[in-house]
Amino acid sequence: MNSKDQNVLVCTFGKEVHEGLTSFPKYLSSKFFYDEVGDKLFQQIMDLPEYYLTNAEYDIFQLHKTNIIQSFDFNKNGFDLVELGAGDGKKTKVILNELLDQKYPVIYHPIDISENAINGLVKNLALELPDLNVKGQIGEYFEVLDRLQHISDRKKVIMVLGSNIGNLLHPRAIQFLKKLNGVMHPDDLVFIGFDQKKHPQKVLDAYNDQSGVTAAFNKNVLTRINKELGGNFNLDAFIHWEVYDPESGTAKSYLVSTKKQTVDIDCLSLQVHFEAWESVHTEISQKYDDDTVKWLAEESGFEITGSFTDDNKYYKNYVFKKSE
Ligand code: AVI
Repeated sequence: MNSKDQNVLVCTFGKEVHEGLTSFPKYLSSKFFYDEVGDKLFQQIMDLPEYYLTNAEYDIFQLHKTNIIQSFDFNKNGFDLVELGAGDGKKTKVILNELLDQKYPVIYHPIDISENAINGLVKNLALELPDLNVKGQIGEYFEVLDRLQHISDRKKVIMVLGSNIGNLLHPRAIQFLKKLNGVMHPDDLVFIGFDQKKHPQKVLDAYNDQSGVTAAFNKNVLTRINKELGGNFNLDAFIHWEVYDPESGTAKSYLVSTKKQTVDIDCLSLQVHFEAWESVHTEISQKYDDDTVKWLAEESGFEITGSFTDDNKYYKNYVFKKSE
């Protein structure tokens, strides 16, 4: 990333922090959890016993890899496998291994907002799958979509895994899917993971782990404000709080101020006042059912052509094609 790109990111961060902390009720976007520390905390979350999502999706890949590849329905010219929000690529490697074994001509394009994640993944794939053609890119979700249509003229399968779409409210998820639809060629496909509604306690535990890693992850946005914007948040004066509404399927994360306090953010020339027990909303993690996914797909100009689930039915991956 050059220094201009870096400045734009810092400015966006500052602008959005200002907006969120001067609103009522206060909010901060979960996209700001992710820096080098946040990426590591998220890696730890994915290894937590409570965070079932990663294993469930991994199990789906292991269980159904042959049928998943068949559902991609590609021709002899090969295809491009694009992964938005690739992270460590652990699940995708199951499919990539299979594609290489079967000698399918594939180019893998992992894309992630985190430069660390992409650099790490590209290095790791060069060691683990040296025969694989990999073209990593750094970029934010919405912004990379513009680049997608120029990737190649071959068929594309675009993967959106990890229930990453769940961090967007429905209107924003539709906006994202519509934009994705707009840059796809008629025979391109989307392979997308949606965490499913389940026992509410199971969901709550996933976002409220015993070891406190999720709390540290949530508080990382405050650490970033302290480091990057000259803030003086006292992390011990906030608690991580999770709620889950089984009706809407929305899990929400908050940071709650345990006392009346004022925080200075020097770079924004801003003083933020908190009442005791005032909240800052930081993240949504939406849970879905088939009807909701079908509605989202149809609203965005897609139809569902297949789906795969794990033995517990915790999680589902769907194949979307553009509607005719
Ligand atoms: C990246 N995203 C789908 C995760 C989720 O489940 O919402 C982020 C996360 N937040 C807390 N734990 C994990």
